Amino acid sequence: VVALKPPSSAKEEDEDLADTGKTRVTVLFGTQTGTAEGFAKALAEEIKARYDKAAVRVVDLDDYAVEDDLYEEKLKKESLAFFMVATYGDGEPTDNAARFYKWFTEGDERGTWLQHLTYGVFGLGNRQYEHFNKIAKVLDEKLSEQGAKCLIPVGLGDDDQSIEDDFAAWRELLWPELDKLLRDEDDINSVATPYTAVIPEYRVVIHDSPVNVHEENYSSMANGSTSFDIHHPCRVNVAVQRELHKPESDRSCIHLEFDITGTGITYETGDHVGVYADNCDETVEEAGKLLGQPLDMLFSIHTDNEDGSPRGSSLPPAFPGPCTLRFALAHYADLLNPPRKAALLALAAHATEPSEADRLKHLASPQGKDEYSKWVAASQRSLLEVMAEFPSAKPSLGVFFAAVAPRLQPRYYSISSSPRFAPNRVHVTCALVYGPTPTGRIHKGICSTWMKNAVPLEKSHNCGSAPIFIRQSNFKLPADPTVPIIMVGPGTGLAPFRGFLQERMALKEEGSELGAALLFFGCRNRRMDFIYENELNNFVEPGVISELILAFSREGPQKEYVQHKMMDKAAQVWSLISQGGYLYVCGDAKGMARDVHRTLHTIVQEQENVDSSKAEAIVKKLQMDGRYLRDVW
Ligand code: 2AM
Repeated sequence: VVALKPPSSAKEEDEDLADTGKTRVTVLFGTQTGTAEGFAKALAEEIKARYDKAAVRVVDLDDYAVEDDLYEEKLKKESLAFFMVATYGDGEPTDNAARFYKWFTEGDERGTWLQHLTYGVFGLGNRQYEHFNKIAKVLDEKLSEQGAKCLIPVGLGDDDQSIEDDFAAWRELLWPELDKLLRDEDDINSVATPYTAVIPEYRVVIHDSPVNVHEENYSSMANGSTSFDIHHPCRVNVAVQRELHKPESDRSCIHLEFDITGTGITYETGDHVGVYADNCDETVEEAGKLLGQPLDMLFSIHTDNEDGSPRGSSLPPAFPGPCTLRFALAHYADLLNPPRKAALLALAAHATEPSEADRLKHLASPQGKDEYSKWVAASQRSLLEVMAEFPSAKPSLGVFFAAVAPRLQPRYYSISSSPRFAPNRVHVTCALVYGPTPTGRIHKGICSTWMKNAVPLEKSHNCGSAPIFIRQSNFKLPADPTVPIIMVGPGTGLAPFRGFLQERMALKEEGSELGAALLFFGCRNRRMDFIYENELNNFVEPGVISELILAFSREGPQKEYVQHKMMDKAAQVWSLISQGGYLYVCGDAKGMARDVHRTLHTIVQEQENVDSSKAEAIVKKLQMDGRYLRDVW
């Protein structure tokens, strides 16, 4: 088990506050990588510290109600609720918020039943993406539509800049409003004591004898059951690993197959696989040195005090222990991303050299905003690089794992196989992330580097393995195989379509009739990075692909991209879609998918001979009908 969830305290949740004179405040979060969760906890702590009157709790949206039927009852009990929600992928809610979001935004007409509720929404998003903070905006709109009273305007955090600054600015607007609600009459005019966030810290226990070491205790069964998820991944072997680029290429793209035989893992074509990879030895050794601690030290971390009382609600759940520091750094610590400002403050608090503490505090302060943007964010300075610049800042392990290094997150890949073709395998197609950052560091993507170096079972019994889990997606073939499809997937955007094609091949072999299928694929150069070339060609003859349309961007004097090829075939593309066909796009969201979207808009405008806003409505309709699907990152 990689990341245990703490048990939700149902008792506290339903505590009757009527007699206590306290006001119930609920902070709900929708998180994917932990940022929204961290913000939710920080907000709760600060509300608690500022207002004696507030009975605050933090709730994972997934745990808010076990069944949809109970949401209504839960919301009826709230008086003040905050939603910290991230927007992911193609304007989607995070996995843990999906069920609530669907229920709340798509459910039956409920009228203005939430008049008893006052709320605030803070969104976590990235302006580079088309659907910037869509989830927060929609939630805010729907809350107010259903009668809830908005306390302050929805906060639109932008991770492309500094999301922590956006959050701080939103909180500054919040306090005067909360003062009105939660401060007593007589002290409403008095000055509130300034609040300084406490730096969260685990209780650490050092173990000298190697009893019950938790390291290889990854389950191959999720607590005896066979349902695996982000909190209960399943360790599986690497069966096959090979390079997909041709020798002439100076880059790398890996084809990898996880063996899921006997695990109970099942998946559908178009799903994603989450993979937990480890930091490489070099990174771990460096972190050990910077922390000044021996890597073979056995320790465990705890969210409670020795007497069993909790150590504050802002602590992330502990990872299982005892384990060695080497293991903890390899598996649980995100060491290569730029540190957040909260991490700089935690380092500052432990810097013994005053000049270092001052500079760290400055970088985390509003005055140091530009410097942080330049020196940390834009330079992609990793946490380890930053720590190396401040050698006197050696946090304890309790602080390091709670406040400095975020938890290492799983990486998601679009599965490139179909279970009809490979029922015991999950295939992944992964481009190696490798290159210099502005500081001259060579950044090696954690998971892709791991895949590049993974030894497969076909080569050695001492093969690589990783904890994985499946994430369902709605990127699915039409139920009727005779419906035409158009697939657009340059580079590793090809991955899910390889699964689609395997599925169509299997359907054909079972005697099904297949509709037309266009595949637009693009890469730099036919002789270098045309991945799965033979396989794709072999799908053409039996009609699994009716036409393979290729765009090579670095062969001729001019860039040729998939959208240029779509434009060349505009009439055919539109005719297939008009017949009820489906359009699928997979790959890079910020560049390719955005440009393909514009191209689609142009095609509709020209082919239908309509103006821009009518074309937009047609594209929207396709999206709403689930006939224009995107799997983008
Ligand atoms: P380039 O790197 O030569 O610019 C797979 O990565 C392919 O997608 C490459 O051929 C790459 O071309 C191309 N690509 C890059 N940006 C793109 C965009 N905005 N639209 C479509 N394809 C793009």
